[in-house]
Amino acid sequence: MATENFIQSTSEIARISEDSAKLKIESKEFDLPVVKATCGPDGILISKLKNEAFVTLDPGFLTTAQCSSNITYIDGEQSILRYRGYPIQDLAEKSTFLEVAYLLIYGYLPTKEQRDSFIDDVNGRTLVGEDFRSFLGGFPRDAHPMALLSSSVAALGTFCSGTSSVHDLQAIEEATKNILAKTRTITSFLHRRRRNEPLLYPDYSRGYVDDFIRMCFAIPYERFESNPLLVDALDKLLILHADHEQNCSTTVVRITGSSNASLYSSVAAGICALSGPLHGGANEKALKQICEIREYIKEGKTIQDFVNMVKDNKQKLAGFGHRVYKSYDPRAAIAKEYAKKMYDAKIGDLDLFELAFELEEVVMEDDYFSSRHLYPNIDLWTGLIYKAMGFDPEMFTTIFALARIPGWIAHWREMHRDPLTKIGRPRQVYTGPVYNKYISVDERKL
Ligand code: SDX
Repeated sequence: MATENFIQSTSEIARISEDSAKLKIESKEFDLPVVKATCGPDGILISKLKNEAFVTLDPGFLTTAQCSSNITYIDGEQSILRYRGYPIQDLAEKSTFLEVAYLLIYGYLPTKEQRDSFIDDVNGRTLVGEDFRSFLGGFPRDAHPMALLSSSVAALGTFCSGTSSVHDLQAIEEATKNILAKTRTITSFLHRRRRNEPLLYPDYSRGYVDDFIRMCFAIPYERFESNPLLVDALDKLLILHADHEQNCSTTVVRITGSSNASLYSSVAAGICALSGPLHGGANEKALKQICEIREYIKEGKTIQDFVNMVKDNKQKLAGFGHRVYKSYDPRAAIAKEYAKKMYDAKIGDLDLFELAFELEEVVMEDDYFSSRHLYPNIDLWTGLIYKAMGFDPEMFTTIFALARIPGWIAHWREMHRDPLTKIGRPRQVYTGPVYNKYISVDERKL
């Protein structure tokens, strides 16, 4: 059922319109087709230039669309984020992480029966084989969890035989649910293994998020009651991170998948891309930055002094700025609400919450940042919240990865359905030596 609807919901991705854009270069004029957007910028299809003497050059793809997509829409000026047209505010308030995962992957909100059957399917795949523990056991306990998570997901396909095909819809469904289900278990293993604690098995009677918190923090054979505020906060943060259109790691998942690499390998590649401090690693960096500010204050300096040092040294404040949001990141607004709830409930290191609230105030009043359209992004708050939940800073980005899994899967599956998809192979503008004659080593001089 879900698969058929999924095919319909993605068949009209590429909508080439009768309009065209005219490009005049020297004496040549090109009529370039336009792909109409339902909202946001239309796309100029430049493929026909491939046989001409030009390529377009756009470092970091600032104004280049690599695909059409029906999944997520962001308007960075208006602080809009919508998954399949649903505003993030409504989904954060009314939905749950697994329901949002269904929406992103299959393209529509499930009926109660579809949702419950999906949850059962995911829960039924939560266990990873005992051999997986010995696979993990080969890594140093203090290895960064993002390196272990990417290795684990790349290896997962070898533990789930027959589910790595990129053409067999049943295999794709299996891989989809395996990755959704098992990355939660693996993330809890990574958290406990770092602490040399016994790994725990899932308890299907509890919800996805509640049981993840139990698998991370419970003491074996002792009754474990999760704090409902922490379960609610984590469920919302997973929803907020579930997708974000063509960000760095999602682009890597699509490009990797375009070579017909399996869903496991493509998601593992996305995890590697997310590990960078300019991307998913920013929440860990943002927390370390707040702790640094606390030391600054102990030396009698102020937050303004810290911000001035950042500006003078042309450094980047972690948790601020965004490639697309040139306004307040709508996710940050919701995450900040949960930071306030945990502060009010006196959960976590209250000093750090107070410093973050004050840092945001100082930055928002400073025209160095506003003139560069630098506002808080979601990473300013998530590190504080995860630390208050009891996670080590090195684990923060693995929780971001856990949340982004449904988005990555949705984009990989859409890429494979898009009739315009080709293997990702960008061009370049070559600026190296035109020709060199080989000189034998005896004749070479410095
Ligand atoms: C995520 O793409 C996504 O959707 C990502 C993400 C997702 O959900 O997948 O939203 C997750 O990655 C959020 C961003 C997390 N990263 C950080 O918080 C790290 C700090 N932020 C910056 O590194 C930066 O803002 C980026 C990388 C996020 C965006 O950088 P851009 O758009 O490439 O901006 P830029 O580097 O061209 O900077 C423009 C100007 C420069 O100043 P000038 O040269 O004009 O004087 O703004 C300055 C930059 O120096 N600047 C900052 C700054 N970010 C940019 N100055 C101080 N602090 C910052 N954070």
